[in-house]
Amino acid sequence: MIRENLVAERIAIDSYRQFANFLADRDSTTRRLVEQILAVEEEHADELAVFLEDLPSARKKPA
Ligand SMILES: [Fe+2]
Repeated sequence: MIRENLVAERIAIDSYRQFANFLADRDSTTRRLVEQILAVEEEHADELAVFLEDLPSARKKPA
């Protein structure tokens, strides 16, 4: 579940990043709003990644 949430966060990050790039100079106000949302999503992804690293059951077992 945590891993799936991390994947979803990363998909959201990619989408917001593409949207911000599209907006570029077209609409700088909306671009700044999207960049703020993007920053929050990046924090969520970082938190989930750290949580996964610290979760013994989530670690990959050696083959
Ligand atoms: Fe999020």
